[in-house]
Amino acid sequence: MIKALRSLFLPALMAAVFTGARAQDTVKIGEFASLTGKEAAFGQSSHKGTLLAVEELNATGGILGRQVELITEDNQSKQGESATIVKKLISRDKIIALLGEVASGRSLEAAPIAQNYKIPMISPSSTNPRVTEMGSYIFRVCFIDPFQGTAMAKFAKDSLHLKKVALLTSVSSPYSVGLAKYFKETFAAIGGEITIEQKYSEGDKDFKAQLTAIKAAGVDGIFVPGYYTEAALISKQARELELNFPIFGGDGWEAPQLIEIGGKAMEGTYYSTHYSPENSSPAVQNFVKKFRARFAGETPDAMAALGYDSAMVLADAIKRAGTTDGPKLRAALAATRNYDGVTGRTTIDPHRNATKAAVVITVKDGQFKFVESIAP
Ligand code: PHE
Repeated sequence: MIKALRSLFLPALMAAVFTGARAQDTVKIGEFASLTGKEAAFGQSSHKGTLLAVEELNATGGILGRQVELITEDNQSKQGESATIVKKLISRDKIIALLGEVASGRSLEAAPIAQNYKIPMISPSSTNPRVTEMGSYIFRVCFIDPFQGTAMAKFAKDSLHLKKVALLTSVSSPYSVGLAKYFKETFAAIGGEITIEQKYSEGDKDFKAQLTAIKAAGVDGIFVPGYYTEAALISKQARELELNFPIFGGDGWEAPQLIEIGGKAMEGTYYSTHYSPENSSPAVQNFVKKFRARFAGETPDAMAALGYDSAMVLADAIKRAGTTDGPKLRAALAATRNYDGVTGRTTIDPHRNATKAAVVITVKDGQFKFVESIAP
């Protein structure tokens, strides 16, 4: 009884009465991320963006008069770990909302748990459609792969003028399997040909067999809807086999390691993503400036920008809800309209997804370069 009263009335009271927040009065937000392991670049980057947002929120008085406490857990990029740490965040730390993950496979792992406990979860950058289909408490602030796959199929046909394309898919990644499917559907529909399909698994290092088969098939490009480590190794081994046509992928390619691992082989490759730091809009340039000042001159990438936006969209919803109560916060998140962020406007649609533009990036002289923007 007392407990129920407390949770109903105290937050509003405290907001009115206390100026400074005590430790137990914080708004606890949980974050699960791949801070170490195979996709550490994703987790690190997303975390920095999220942290910057939380620090800014706290510097301007927090949310509902309370400071925000970000509790971050590392899943080591390992399968199975996200479920464990998300349960811990919910039962031990009593977080009121969950931010994460970048990789769709790991968001898919956590989503049923968040749904079960009625803890709103926002994935900053998981693009596989199934993520938000897991339940009414699961949201995202980025576009989804039917759009990304279509955008890259059109780019391949219209801008790269490719006619026969090979698909090299990671069968152990839901993200890769989905993006391959959407790319294939559109590319075939607009008159392109998927001449050959080859597969690999996360963690593979030798792609010579698949690339030799692709070479024999006589294509003029390869679509690799995977993550940066394998994409870089594939590009490298493709060049060694003298496959000197465009190799291209999706947002999973985005990480400095793509160029560190792939080196010269990455020149003239392309990938789609959510944002470019070269965008001259004040929202982007202001973010780039703040991020560089906070993180030793580092330029924020798409995961950082979406990590930042995910935390800000959550804060906006908590303010509108006037409470951190799960069902009310869920309703406020679902009602998000035209929230202006770094990655554009966030409007949560009936499927709890956002609709945003994609950008195409290429590698030129060892640097990422903006090519074009693709409207939704
Ligand atoms: N969209 C990817 C996925 O769903 C993750 C990702 C997002 C990777 C943004 C890099 C940049 O798995």
